[in-house]
Amino acid sequence: MSNADWMQRDLRHVWHPCTQMKDHEQLPLVPIRRGQGLWLEDFDGKRYLDGISSWWVNLFGHANPELNAALSQQADTLEHVILAGFTHQAIIELSERLVALAPPGLEKCFYADNGSSGIEVALKMSLHAWRNLNKPEKTRFIALENSYHGETIGALGVTDIPLFSETYKPMLQAPLRAPSPDASLRREGETCADVARRAMAGMEQLLQDHAHEVAAVIVEPLIQGAAGMRMYNPIYLTLLREACDRHGVHLIADEIAVGFGRTGTFFACEQANISPDFLVLSKGLTAGYLPMSVVMTSNVIYDIFYDRYETLRGFLHSHSYTGNALAARVALASLDIFARDDVIVANQARSLAMAQALAPLHDHPHIHHIRQTGMVAAFDLVRDKANGTPYDWRERRGLAVFQAALKRGLLLRPIGNVVYFMPPYIITAEQIRWMVATAVEAINEALAAPASDSAELGPSIA
Ligand SMILES: Cc1ncc(COP(=O)(O)O)c(C=O)c1O
Repeated sequence: MSNADWMQRDLRHVWHPCTQMKDHEQLPLVPIRRGQGLWLEDFDGKRYLDGISSWWVNLFGHANPELNAALSQQADTLEHVILAGFTHQAIIELSERLVALAPPGLEKCFYADNGSSGIEVALKMSLHAWRNLNKPEKTRFIALENSYHGETIGALGVTDIPLFSETYKPMLQAPLRAPSPDASLRREGETCADVARRAMAGMEQLLQDHAHEVAAVIVEPLIQGAAGMRMYNPIYLTLLREACDRHGVHLIADEIAVGFGRTGTFFACEQANISPDFLVLSKGLTAGYLPMSVVMTSNVIYDIFYDRYETLRGFLHSHSYTGNALAARVALASLDIFARDDVIVANQARSLAMAQALAPLHDHPHIHHIRQTGMVAAFDLVRDKANGTPYDWRERRGLAVFQAALKRGLLLRPIGNVVYFMPPYIITAEQIRWMVATAVEAINEALAAPASDSAELGPSIA
């Protein structure tokens, strides 16, 4: 069967995520037959380099033989067991390994099924901890402008991307919003650290006014991903940790997207030398194989729930697949690769190759704000670079780039006018050069086309 056949069958019964389904009257779906390493292959035999790690999850390539072997061995032994009242070897070993890798003081691991449900756990745990401490008034959260924390109700509440949250506003608890430390907001003469300090002043004011009713501050450390790879200086996190301590408010670090080496260190928080009260991990946790998330916290928080007499002081949250053995086993195999291949160090050469490939783009008339943190690089497409005038979202230039790149065998998924690269950690310097050069060709084609080509479609989304 061809791509077209599979697409026709798909559209009868499959409702796709983050998609206005009517778009597929014009935009072909890409049915993938198999994946191998960096490459995805469709049913017409065309191959695509996965430049976005399939929504930021894949670390060591598709159908990785080592991960496959670990998975199949685990499947032959134990695929899953209820984690309430029972336990198993993979989850014990994974928890030990994560605690050894995490910033100091994070000693307990609570598992959930995906990023958003991990965020729900962190929010609930923070609120519940304050309740157990006889501070039931601490029920609010502070989140940053342009934040993204997922799409379940609690997570969407602290998300600041109206495209995703506006419709559901009646269901959401509105958080307090602090200014984003996004380095691209720097004013004339300001450094990235200056922007971070300026944003921190806004956060400080919120904490001063509201700490008595605030359970936690939640942030995406170093990169606000879904808002368009907005990057910021680690000083913000150092100052934030200090302010949260001073005001008696928890700090939740959502490292769902940036954990496991994306920012150049194993965890982004390391660059600010801080330990959050809650560290939320998912995506790269299982190297892109299976949905799993974990909330890591301290013994101090854990002890607040520990009580002989009162069940309700315990954290009664549960998911059927909590601590799934297959997911835990593949996560362990992924950590083995990190250790054996010294991946964080090896990625320094990859990051440098990305920086070198991007350097000539500074002269491109429509590429602005080139930025990079570790293994994540991004830039904005602008109509007029001198004034930084963006393309109108209705022109859907990002979508046109997606299509032009796909035609050339490269999977990119621009967020609005932001083009970014977040490849798996098996990419070579030569493949990086090809990826960036191909992206530029795609951009040139997309920007040369009349805007009306795609103007009938809605905004292009993450
Ligand atoms: C920072 C961040 N938090 C939370 C999530 C939600 O994770 P999931 O899509 O697994 O629910 C994402 C997903 O992109 C994310 O980037």
